[in-house]
Order: sequence, then C-alpha cells, then structure tokens
Amino acid sequence: MMTAHEADLWHDPETLYWPSRELCFIPMQMLINGVIDEYTKSEDILLELGSGTGALDDYTNYSRQTKYVEGSEELIAVHRAKLTEEGKDPDSVIQGDLYELPFEDNSVDNVVGLLVLDAMLDLPAAVQEIHRVLKPGGKFIYFHDLRASSNAMALMLYEQGAIPIPIVDGRNNITHMATFGATEFKWLKKQLKSLVPKSDYNEVVDLLESTNQFDIWQHYPEVTQPITKAILNNPELQDCITPHVSELLSMMLQQEFEATGMKVLENNLRTSEVLVDRSSIGPEHELLEEHNTIEHGAFGNWYWHSEDVLAGKVLLVANVLTFVATK
Ligand SMILES: C[S@@+](CC[C@H](N)C(=O)[O-])C[C@H]1O[C@@H](n2cnc3c(N)ncnc32)[C@H](O)[C@@H]1O
Repeated sequence: MMTAHEADLWHDPETLYWPSRELCFIPMQMLINGVIDEYTKSEDILLELGSGTGALDDYTNYSRQTKYVEGSEELIAVHRAKLTEEGKDPDSVIQGDLYELPFEDNSVDNVVGLLVLDAMLDLPAAVQEIHRVLKPGGKFIYFHDLRASSNAMALMLYEQGAIPIPIVDGRNNITHMATFGATEFKWLKKQLKSLVPKSDYNEVVDLLESTNQFDIWQHYPEVTQPITKAILNNPELQDCITPHVSELLSMMLQQEFEATGMKVLENNLRTSEVLVDRSSIGPEHELLEEHNTIEHGAFGNWYWHSEDVLAGKVLLVANVLTFVATK
C-alpha cells in the first residue's frame, strides 16, 4: 500500500523540475539511451516505475514500447498530456501502487526506474514486487543521482538501531550520513541546546528521534549547517560518518535485489560529458554564473554533478544499477 508519507510527497509537478535537468539534458540523454540500448532488445516492452511527469521519456529517444505505473494523479495528468501531444497513447500510464504492480507474475520484459526507489520507504517490498513481475531473464535498470534521497536508507539504518543524521554541504544538500548510537546522540542533543531556540528544542529532538527525521532538514535549515560543522569538528565522531548517500543506496539496492535471487549486472558510476554553448544557458542558470568554479556536486543541486560548466563542459555523473531476474 502506498504510504501516506510517499503519497503526500509527490503531487506538485514543480517539484520534479529543476534547472539542472535542462542543462544536463544532452549528457543525460546519451547516458540513459546508451544504458537502455545495452541491456534491452528493441522489441522489448519496458515498464517504468514512478514515472512522475515523464522525465525518463523526455531523456529517451528509443522506440521501445513503454508502460508506466505512477501513484500521483496530478503528475499523471501532466505526463498523459505530453504523450497525447506527441501522438502516443496516454493510457499507457496506469495509476497504481508500486508495492502492488498491476501485472501478472513473470509477465514483464524489463523494468526501468529513475530516482524512484530511494523515495520508497518499504524498499524490500518494492524490490520483491519488481522481481515478481519480471520474466526470467528480464532486467531491471535503475538510475539514481549523487544526491539520492535518504528516506529508504534512513529507515534501514534506524531499524538497525542507529540514528542517521545527514551531513550537508554549503547548500544544505545531503552528502554523507552520520550513524549515531545512543552515546553520540546524547552528545548531539547537547549541541542542539545551543543551536536551536528553546521553544523549538523539543520538536527538533522529536524529529531527530523519529523515522521521518529528515524533515528536520526542511523545517529547520538554519540548524543543519551548524550540526554538520559540530559533527565534522568532533574527532570522536569521525567513525560515525558513512559514505556518500548515493554509495550507501547503491550498496543497499544491490543487497535487496540479490536477496530476491536477482543477479547484479552493473553497479557503477557512469559519466557523460558534453561541451555546451554557454550563451545557451538561460537565466534559470544564474546559479552557474554565481559560482565561478562549480564545486563538486553543487551544480546538480538534487541532481547531477557538473563541473567546469563555466568552461562550457558539463560532466554528468549517475549511478547506474542493472539486475537480471534468474528464476
Ligand atoms: C522522485 S520522484 C521521480 C519521478 C520521475 N521518475 C522523475 O525522475 O522525475 C518519485 C516518483 O515515484 C512515485 N511513487 C513513490 N512511491 C510510490 C508508490 N508507492 N506507488 C506509486 N508511485 C509512487 C511518486 O509519486 C513520484 O512520482
């Protein structure tokens, strides 16, 4: 069942638009088409999970027949309108739940996903469902970014008895995680006393102790930087800092898929590089002009890592995971 948390998150098409998607359009297109061509046959039917407003479609120019399952009515409306405009079948988008895919067992050639599994709170259930619908030999192809959302990981770490605290960069993007045990958490609570106004303290601590604690990063952005600084400046906590969020997610996904009996074909960072005409970068990309050298990951914001954009080079880095169903 789609949880309230997930359903509530995705209804506004605006949340799926960000300027870096435009700038990274060509390298993204090259990367995605290359991967799909490599792993699927042209006559294969693809099933896309969590298709939102159809971003993956925008990036692809393959002629594969595709079906889509998406939960949000509002996002589906945008996607269907685009398909209609392109002379494609709007009914290929099915409103449904990724935990209960409306397909028979062993009936789907290939499943694809872009930035979706990291948004799912019950990752094992989602993975089981993908495995269930795939034909033997069918592939699952997944793309996620260096700023993967932390929901699924937070839950997993929480279930293992750790309290995951995001470490953020200068723009409040989550880069790493710190996995706190009870002792370190006591230390953190003490730090918070001086960082958070007294009236907010209980609420912040409650948020940190809950599985949805990542909300703290939305509700209290002013405390995220100082918390990160305090964590990084405490040598005793260095061991608590785990790798980049996207690395953790990739590791976790591989474990989950292998647990269902699927075999990993690729778990890799792929890059795609193009030269862009700087004059074609519109006003939305003021962010670029503002930052003479684009620090690691900053341009992508929630998305792709670009560097040297001012020199006209866009370097896109994406996590690519592919699995095959062996049943
Ligand atoms: C991060 S968005 C990505 C959307 C799209 N792939 C893109 O890249 O723009 C995650 C999508 O998964 C959908 N989603 C999450 N959990 C779902 C569920 N349990 N059932 C159906 N859709 C779900 C959301 O509605 C949302 O459109």
